[in-house]
Amino acid sequence: MEAIERVCKFLEDAETYYLATVEGDQPRVRPFGTVLLYGGKLYIQTGKVKDVSKQLAVNPKAEICAFKDGKWLRVAGELVNDDDRAVKVAMLEKMPSLKAMYSADDDNTQVLYFKDAKATFSSFTEAPETVTF
Ligand SMILES: Cc1cc2nc3c(=O)[nH]c(=O)nc-3n(C[C@H](O)[C@H](O)[C@H](O)COP(=O)(O)O)c2cc1C
Repeated sequence: MEAIERVCKFLEDAETYYLATVEGDQPRVRPFGTVLLYGGKLYIQTGKVKDVSKQLAVNPKAEICAFKDGKWLRVAGELVNDDDRAVKVAMLEKMPSLKAMYSADDDNTQVLYFKDAKATFSSFTEAPETVTF
């Protein structure tokens, strides 16, 4: 499995991850669950009306953390907006519960992909492993 596929699978299996952004000198963090591998890129989904989206528009630097079965994963990088409708459709198809709140053609749905990502798998028992994508 490619590194980015392993990262995606870990996030899927963990179900919930925590997305940190920056607002001025204040870190902000919240639970997220959306994840999609599309066209070789790792995407997440949010709404443009949310503070998280506004923070990323000012400063795209972000980090996510997920924990499962004694292992944790951190992915640090930049989250880049992608207006490609096909990715939004694929995200909504993968996570149909989103359709109650979002559609590919509303002005709110936003998908972003990780650029210059450094992903580190850690545990208490093994040495950390870092991959990039
Ligand atoms: C388990 C869980 C998963 C969530 N997944 C997402 C998600 O993938 N995208 C999203 O925009 N909001 C998601 N939310 C809701 C956000 O955490 C919530 O809207 C948060 O307030 C957004 O951060 P902000 O207030 O700083 O903008 C999720 C909430 C929970 C409890």
